[in-house]
Order: sequence, then structure tokens, then C-alpha cells
Amino acid sequence: MEQKLRALEEQAKQDVNEAQSTDALEKVRVKYLGKKGELTQVLRGMGSLSAEERPIVGKIANVVRESIEKSLDQAKLHIKNIEMTAKLEAEAIDVTMPGKETKIGRKHPLSQGLDELKDIFISMGFKVAEGPEVETVYYNFDALNAAQNHPSRDMRDTFYINDDVILRTQTSPVQVRVMEKMKPPIRIISPGRCFRNDTPDATHSPMFHQLEGLVVDKGITLADLKGTLEVFVKKFLGDHTQIKFRPHHFPFTEPSAEIDATCFKCNGDGCPFCKKSGWIELLGAGMVHPNVLKNVGIDPEVYSGFAFGMGIDRLVMLKYGIDDIRLLFENDMRFLNQF
Ligand code: DAH
Repeated sequence: MEQKLRALEEQAKQDVNEAQSTDALEKVRVKYLGKKGELTQVLRGMGSLSAEERPIVGKIANVVRESIEKSLDQAKLHIKNIEMTAKLEAEAIDVTMPGKETKIGRKHPLSQGLDELKDIFISMGFKVAEGPEVETVYYNFDALNAAQNHPSRDMRDTFYINDDVILRTQTSPVQVRVMEKMKPPIRIISPGRCFRNDTPDATHSPMFHQLEGLVVDKGITLADLKGTLEVFVKKFLGDHTQIKFRPHHFPFTEPSAEIDATCFKCNGDGCPFCKKSGWIELLGAGMVHPNVLKNVGIDPEVYSGFAFGMGIDRLVMLKYGIDDIRLLFENDMRFLNQF
């Protein structure tokens, strides 16, 4: 029995020496010391020994077990060290390798322009309102005092979903939606997408962006409109910019005007950019038509207001010197990376 145990010890140590990994070592441990392990089997067979032999063999068996455990522990430590060294070598970072370039995104020029416009109007006390891009004919035309036969209502100009629903052609319907919900004083801007049945070219796109403005209160006059737009234009295009009002017609304002600004390239002297006129067309505006106020239940005898609407794409193109509106929507990174 003793011989058998010693042989087992010898065999176990050899196996330990041959094991190359923690996994292999664990297998050796199970092979000898596990529940069905070889040493365990031997110990189980002790029942057949005589009473004198049993303690002697038991002692030897314990010594053998401890000896195997010890060599297992030592080998384990050794292998762990080797494995750790290999792991560290494999994971070593070569600090001389060139790094991976992280591309930092940036805002689309339209978003940059819009942020600037919003900042200017928010600094003047305006709040930002939103309205739907899929709009009803009522909000886009009727409530804004557009006659049944107004040319912009034509199928050739407007995308109709059905007789009553369209893609909005302007941000002006938000004026009506806001006035239905809020009572004066009202001071809002509303930026957003608009759609018209236009064939794309350098200055037209079937989808484009506008920014609407609306102020309604007691005693609002054309002077307030002029003052507001003057502050806006100077902030957006530069301090020496001047504006002029040209008479115009919009169904929802009376009187209506188109507003031009002195060309920010030549300061009004005339250059190729402003087609030698010294002026650049900026936006439409006017005093809110009494019919529009009546349509939302605001008494035009008590309240008055002004409104304006500008093409964001156009303003951004002017500001950044972009000569084709299609560039804004093609998402060509070579173009966008310039801003
Ligand atoms: N909605 C007009 C357009 O698309 C622009 C406009 C003009 C808006 C005058 C206004 C305004 O609020 O008062 O051409």
C-alpha cells in the first residue's frame, strides 16, 4: 500500500511538472485529489486494511496528499507568473505607433446660421414656437387672408396631400396657431421647413427653410417693426448695415413691405455680388392684417402687430458666400467640412 502511495506521489509530481497552464494544472489536481481522483480511490480502499495498518497508511496518505498539494501550489504560482508576463507582453502599448484620427463633427451651415438667428431674436425677448410641416389649407392660406384664387394656392405651386392638407409653403401658419393659443402680448419666432413645387436650380429648392416672426400687443406700430429689424440686421450682417422698406403685397399684412439691406460686401457702393445695386433683398414684413387678427378672435381695434418672414437658406448663402442652394442639401462632406 505504501509503495502504491509513493508511486502515486511520484506520478503526480511528474504530471505537475508537465502541466503548462493553469487549466492543465487543474486537470492534474482533479485527476489525483478530486472526488474520483486516484488518491481518493486509494483512501477509500483503506477499509480493507487491518486496525494496525490503518493509522500508518493513513499517515502516509496524508503526507502524500500534502506533498502533491504543495507541488501543485508551487507550480500554480510559477505558471501564473509566466502567464502574466505573456499577457503583459501581448497587451503592451507601442506609444510610438501613430494614433487613430478622431473626426470631430460640426454643425451644418444652416444650423449654424439658424442658431445665430435664434440667439439674436431671443436676446430681444422672442420665444421660439413650432408648427407642423404637414399643414391644413386653412392655416396655410385661409386664416392668413389668402383669397381663394391666390396664385400660391395653385397645384403648380403647392404640394397637396388632399384638398384640405398640404405641405406648408411658408412658416406664416404658425402665426395663426400661436395666436389661437396665446393671448397678447405675443413675441415669437418660428423657424422651420417649407415646401413648394419648384424645380431645383441654383436659387430654388422644393424644400427650404424660413424663419417667421410675430409681435402682437397694444400700440404696436410700424416703428416697432423697423426698430426690431434694424437691430436684427446690424447684429446679423454688421453694425454699419442700413435697411430700406420697399412697398409690397402680402395677403396677411397691411401695409406690407420687402426689406433690403445695404450689401455687406461693398457697403452699398455697388459690386457684382449685389448686381451693382448696393442693396440685397432680405425679407418680407408688414403690419398684421386686421382680418388675420379677427380670424383668431383678437380685436384689431384694441391690438395691433407686426410680422416678418425670411428665407434662412438665402441668408446663410449670403453670409457664407454660397452660390447654389442645392449645395446645402447634397451632404457632400467636401463642401460641409468648410464650415
Ligand atoms: N410668408 C412670406 C413668404 O413666404 C414671407 C412673409 C412676408 C412672412 C411678410 C411674414 C410677413 O410674416 O409679414 O413669402
